[in-house]
Amino acid sequence: MGKLRSIITGSGSYLPPNIVTNAELAKKVDTTDEWIVARTGIKERRIADEGVLTSDLATFAAQNALKNAGVDASEIDLIVLATATPNRTFPATATTVQANLGITTGCAFDVQAVCSGFLYALTVADNMLQCGNFKKALVIGAETFSRIIDWKDRSTCVLFADGAGAVVVEASEGEGTIADRGILYSHLRSDGRYEDKLYVDAGPSQGGDGYLKMQGKEVFRHAVSKIGSAIEQALEDNGLTGEDIDWFVPHQANKRILDAMARKFSLDTSKVVETVHKHANTSAASIPLALHEAVGDGRIKKGDLVLIEALGGGFTWGSMLFRW
Ligand code: ACO
Repeated sequence: MGKLRSIITGSGSYLPPNIVTNAELAKKVDTTDEWIVARTGIKERRIADEGVLTSDLATFAAQNALKNAGVDASEIDLIVLATATPNRTFPATATTVQANLGITTGCAFDVQAVCSGFLYALTVADNMLQCGNFKKALVIGAETFSRIIDWKDRSTCVLFADGAGAVVVEASEGEGTIADRGILYSHLRSDGRYEDKLYVDAGPSQGGDGYLKMQGKEVFRHAVSKIGSAIEQALEDNGLTGEDIDWFVPHQANKRILDAMARKFSLDTSKVVETVHKHANTSAASIPLALHEAVGDGRIKKGDLVLIEALGGGFTWGSMLFRW
């Protein structure tokens, strides 16, 4: 068997219909629309209704991606789902989605790298497809962060939200070059020494019902430097500059981080896909949600070079280049 590469052939997303504006949040916690917009760029977010699970959001996004890729669910032999808010401790939310889609062959599992989860999941799927053991994958980022937020903590509850995005990735013959469609490059990093900067203070092994805890300023500082170095690495390793990138689809945590990255790498701001103002931070779902929005409205076209990046709890971080 010759060399294989992975091509993303379709994207999809799903957002719960319930929109919560900053003004509505200001009725529940001591905050203002002005503070949230100035510090983060967030104006509103989507929150899933009680009883709606991460697997439900993931299934809708996956169905949308399959339709857009022109692929039937029965053709999928690999599902990699990134989430930090699974339905249950086990089984994996990916297997629930597999069952929801009526798929009874192949394999499905979860990947946990918090806000970098989609980047990690796409890298895992890319490598499994390149090995030749799988042919068509669904890679999903899905979260119900509203369930792990302390709604009395104004420093975190204004930042996070719910949603899901997905892509279909197919193995294709030939190694390909940077000019060809497909996943071209991935750079993943983690450093567990920073666990206390961003975490949930409970879990099956520790016990208790936990909430997300964050040292906001510290996370901001590390995000700017670590995301910056991941982008630098992606450009350097591929002999590119910011001007070669057609679309920058970053993890949507904070507009100030996005602006800082665009400035640092001389990226034309009209090439930065931004959804943080209306989605807030949906962790592993944020990149595929933003990607699908720009594909859906015609900004990202076949053959465009796309750079994605993320940083999340752990810390985990990284970057990826693909040609749509
Ligand atoms: N409304 C009003 N005031 C608030 C709010 C709020 N929602 N939250 C905090 N404040 C107050 C604080 O109590 C503090 O008041 P004080 O000066 O009287 O003590 C003041 O605002 C300043 O608080 P800071 O925490 O210093 O505010 P900062 O400028 O650092 O902004 C923020 C906070 C927005 C969280 C920022 O640190 C940040 O964006 N960090 C990155 C976090 C992030 O993106 N996390 C996502 C996960 S990781 C990732 O996805 C990259």
